[in-house]
Amino acid sequence: MASSSFIAILTFAFLLFLGTTRAQLSTNFYSNSCPRLFSTVKSTVQSAIKNEARMGASLLRLHFHDCFVNGCDGSVLLDDTANFKGEKNAVPNQNSVRGFNVIDNIKSAVENACPGVVSCADILAITARDSVVILGGPSWNVKLGRRDARTASQAAANNSIPPPTSNLNQLISRFSALGLSTKDMVALSGSHTIGQARCTTFRARIYNETNLESTLAQTRQSNCPRTAGSGDNNLAPLDLQSPTAFDNNYYKNLIQNRGLLHSDQQLFLNGGSTDSIVRGYSNSQSTFTSDFAAAMIKMGDINPLTGSNGEIRKNCRKPN
Ligand code: HEM
Ligand SMILES: *[C@@H]1O[C@H](CO)[C@@H](O)[C@H](O)[C@H]1NC(C)=O
Ligand SMILES: *[C@@H]1O[C@H](CO)[C@@H](O)[C@H](O)[C@H]1NC(C)=O
Repeated sequence: MASSSFIAILTFAFLLFLGTTRAQLSTNFYSNSCPRLFSTVKSTVQSAIKNEARMGASLLRLHFHDCFVNGCDGSVLLDDTANFKGEKNAVPNQNSVRGFNVIDNIKSAVENACPGVVSCADILAITARDSVVILGGPSWNVKLGRRDARTASQAAANNSIPPPTSNLNQLISRFSALGLSTKDMVALSGSHTIGQARCTTFRARIYNETNLESTLAQTRQSNCPRTAGSGDNNLAPLDLQSPTAFDNNYYKNLIQNRGLLHSDQQLFLNGGSTDSIVRGYSNSQSTFTSDFAAAMIKMGDINPLTGSNGEIRKNCRKPN
């Protein structure tokens, strides 16, 4: 009797300890408070992608750029004001991240269904999953219960999101700093099977790098002038064959030296440490999609605000 109550106390103390050190995200977090959450988000994402297929890519990227900067806390969504500097004009985001109006539409629909309950950070996580599914990729159960930050950090956005000039070691260490493995990094980079990049992000590669297949180099040069400042915002698909289908062509391209960004091609260097992972994904769509889904869940777990930390923003663009 005495020893069993001792064990109960120990167990209780241990659970308390876990509660204070680990995030408390769960897949059923809103099942009572907002039962129509998933269907509400999905129908809005569906119509946004129907309107513009690229939007799925843009929405997926928003969750990445949220999570990599002080955790998945909706900080990327905060607008700059006269006395508040957010993340939207940080180097990796300026003239680049998009989809904020779609997030506003989703948030309004969710607020209509269940006012004041669902965080913007969770909306980004669900929206990323739905975008991948709608474009033909894998599904996964999204963990929920994140709360929204009242702050943002342009400096952290500058420093935490990897630039396309990164080499392999830099990519590995940026991800590892957030608890993501090399395999997670390679799988998550498969997001570049969808979406577009601006000339300014790949100009140096298409004019100067030798590990780029020459036909593709010529094609990309035709719409991305050599001189910095001209055509900077001209777009090219990250996956040349199927930029609105979530498939494993990204990896097939890497093996043929057809990565658009310098950072993409770093994953397959013909002698690099991640070549074998890329080969594996290029040969097996199902290995890629299951590793991708697992890595998305890990990325979504980065440093969330839970419990009474942060808030449930009413408007994703500003603190309450
Ligand atoms: C591995 C390091 C990564 C680097 C260096 C990188 C870099 C970039 C760059 C430079 C662009 C083009 C942006 C522009 O020109 O405006 C881009 C686009 C994109 N990135 Fe990444 N990225 C990385 C990882 C990721 C991850 C982990 C995800 C998602 C989980 C992701 C999702 C996307 C998507 C979907 C697009 C296309 C967006 C659109 O069309 O609006 N990227 N990335
Ligand atoms: C982010 O980087 C840009 C370009 O280097 C710089 O102008 C800006 O001040 C940086 N932001 C912060 C808060 O350091
Ligand atoms: C190519 O490399 C040369 C030498 O480093 C550099 O001067 C030039 O600006 C680069 N060109 C582009 C388009 O990046």
